[in-house]
Amino acid sequence: MVPGPTALPPSVVAAGARPILYHRADEFTTLWAETLSALGRVFQTGGEVLVLTGSGSGAMASAVVNLARPGERVLVASCGAFGDRWAEIAVEGGIGIRHVAGEWGRPVDPDAVAAALAEEPGIGVVLTTQCETSTGVVNDLPALREAVGDRILVADAVSGLAVVDLPMDRWGIDVVVGGSQKGLMTPPGLGMVAVNERALAWSEAHGDPGYLLSWARTRAGQNQLPRRTAFTPPVTLVAQLHEALRLIEAEGLPRVYERHRVLGRACRAAVGALGLTPLGAEDPEANVCTAFWNPPGVEGETIPRLMKARFGVEVAGGQGRLAGRMVRIGHCGWYAWGDILNAAGALELVLVELGLPVEPGDGVRAVQRVIADAGPGVP
Ligand SMILES: Cc1ncc(COP(=O)(O)O)c(C=O)c1O
Repeated sequence: MVPGPTALPPSVVAAGARPILYHRADEFTTLWAETLSALGRVFQTGGEVLVLTGSGSGAMASAVVNLARPGERVLVASCGAFGDRWAEIAVEGGIGIRHVAGEWGRPVDPDAVAAALAEEPGIGVVLTTQCETSTGVVNDLPALREAVGDRILVADAVSGLAVVDLPMDRWGIDVVVGGSQKGLMTPPGLGMVAVNERALAWSEAHGDPGYLLSWARTRAGQNQLPRRTAFTPPVTLVAQLHEALRLIEAEGLPRVYERHRVLGRACRAAVGALGLTPLGAEDPEANVCTAFWNPPGVEGETIPRLMKARFGVEVAGGQGRLAGRMVRIGHCGWYAWGDILNAAGALELVLVELGLPVEPGDGVRAVQRVIADAGPGVP
């Protein structure tokens, strides 16, 4: 139960055991065309979803280099380790940044973004994060859309895609970045960028992407009929993604979001019932992972280490400046209420072992209460 890479449904595992497909054969091009159209529905866009071989950071890097050249300036609106990654990618590429760096554990302040842009009206691109996986906080993208005016707005949804609702076209987000290994229930190795017409036009005028990360080249590959790719794709990952998207669509996106809402609520309830202090304010949409501070007297990665050693439940510690200070329980992707119950049970037993004032059953009961309140049919 870490926030990525996440567990795979059995049929996605099985799809990975298929014989390798030749990427120019009909078997693959049909699968690929179906995958691209399903991705469009999951990104909630009528625009193009470009698929790149690489991790989520590769897809982020593609957004930076396709939207800005060395010497140009962009605004980075961050509130944690992954938001700060935008700044690192831009700076390494010689792109200047205006950095609105919010407090870790709180969402980005749209007013601070608007104020920074008022001081630098020449900036045309704003890079931010939907769910900041290092803290579990989800940013208010509609408010950020409002704050940035008509500039190109890029949202990293690597962890929030197919977990937290993000109607890209309706909210007018120009670029949404995704990755295969979280809500999409596929192994790591595929990055995605959904790009609208405005962003494509901007990239033609401003991009300096080089060969491999070029949106234009990727797009030209994908737009062939039958659908193809610019380079040899990781055919096995595509087959697995195809199956995972089938499962997501069979469940139905609204139900997928609702399931994550219930799981997030249940996990936060357990954390609260165990007297732990969550990072960030209560947010019904913060459903990628549940983050809490180490209780007083508990050092470093003690809780993740004991949960794994004693009960085989794998949770994550902190990242970057929060390393060794906190715990994150992931619940994005192929999770059901029993997983939260299991994690809560393991957590409370570890807290008991550490001598904290917790009664076995406190966390589990809180999870059950949320599930009971959610009514029948909770997965
Ligand atoms: C919000 C967010 N952005 C970007 C990334 C980076 O993705 P990757 O590790 O696949 O490069 C992650 C991965 O944890 C993430 O959660």
